[in-house]
Amino acid sequence: MVNVAVLGYGTVGSGVVEIINGGQFLKKAGDEINVKAILDIRKFPGDTYENLVTDNYDNILGDDEISIIVETMGGLKPAYDFTKRALLKGKSVVTSNKELVATHGAELLSLAKENNVSYLFEASVGGGIPIIRPLNNCLAANDITSILGILNGTTNYILTQMFKNGVSFENALSDAQAKGYAEQNPAADIEGHDACRKIAILSSLAYGKHINSNEIKTEGITKISSADVNYAEAEGYSIKLIGRSKNLGDGVYACVSPVMLPKGHPLSDVEDVFNAILVNGSATGDVMFYGKGAGKLPTASAVVADVIDIVKHKGYGAPFWEDGGVTVAINPDPVKMYVRVCDNGRGASAVTAIFGEVKMLKSEPGEIVFITDNLPENEFDDCILKLQGILGQDSIINTITVL
Ligand code: HSE
Repeated sequence: MVNVAVLGYGTVGSGVVEIINGGQFLKKAGDEINVKAILDIRKFPGDTYENLVTDNYDNILGDDEISIIVETMGGLKPAYDFTKRALLKGKSVVTSNKELVATHGAELLSLAKENNVSYLFEASVGGGIPIIRPLNNCLAANDITSILGILNGTTNYILTQMFKNGVSFENALSDAQAKGYAEQNPAADIEGHDACRKIAILSSLAYGKHINSNEIKTEGITKISSADVNYAEAEGYSIKLIGRSKNLGDGVYACVSPVMLPKGHPLSDVEDVFNAILVNGSATGDVMFYGKGAGKLPTASAVVADVIDIVKHKGYGAPFWEDGGVTVAINPDPVKMYVRVCDNGRGASAVTAIFGEVKMLKSEPGEIVFITDNLPENEFDDCILKLQGILGQDSIINTITVL
């Protein structure tokens, strides 16, 4: 019998307990698995597992029968301290906590190695989609050249509800919270920080060096309006929040932002809470991973798979990357941009004078909307400054990368 303690009895933690204690894992894991304790400062009167709940972490750490800790608390405090203490005590840790993995992953992976235990985090990216293990194991023969993904279920759900079903931003967000998709502070979702942590984790794993999520240029979905979506759709594009990175050999480029994807692009029809991740390998070419990116049972499924893996393999082939050494580079590729500006009557001639030939879109009165040709990102930024100089500081309504 392998005993597990679950830290945090929220959406994911309760899903983990439900799956483990409701399942028969003897055949799959080669041993029975049992949740022996649940750590939470709250009480859960009437819950089937209320007797397992404790608020004393020392009791869990001191229980030699508990060999695996599942951390589903989220955030850095106290999860970082609890994880380190567990690893130092010789207990393996499984987590869904992307903030912790993105921030301290390299250090915690080293600590796990030194203590001959595992630190696994399949659930930290893509909810129920297998992506960490495939990147680490199945694609091991490849140099990974790039990653492009819809990495946040909440924002994809909001964009779909708003623009396909006419639901307001606020209602779509409340619905995502009620369904257990959103972070405790949903700003992490809508401002792109959650997707940023996930692209940092995937890129660190794929390229072998820790990539600091604070260095990744990140923009969320708060500036996307129905007008942007209408303009995009009229041109045959959908708008998605995309995390992307590229291996430059001597560095890494990574960013998170809304992107206009042409219809027919493999990510353009990914809707609702679904995530999809396109990985380019030197031998395989493009490989795509698709599934539910958030929610109780999909995420708990990935956590429990890690637990089973530890029981079966004692952490064999655990993911690893080195600490430090990589700074996030500027975009090496030219960009094509959608630009929407207020027109004061001089807009069209100013746009042509600054950007040269652009594709003008049919726009509402008082606005000019266009798509640029490919140009280096710093040149685009300079052109926008020049346009603001002519049309006014507040003239730029929105700019979106076009793939
Ligand atoms: N808030 C996250 C999302 C949860 O919406 O994708 C899964 O990581």
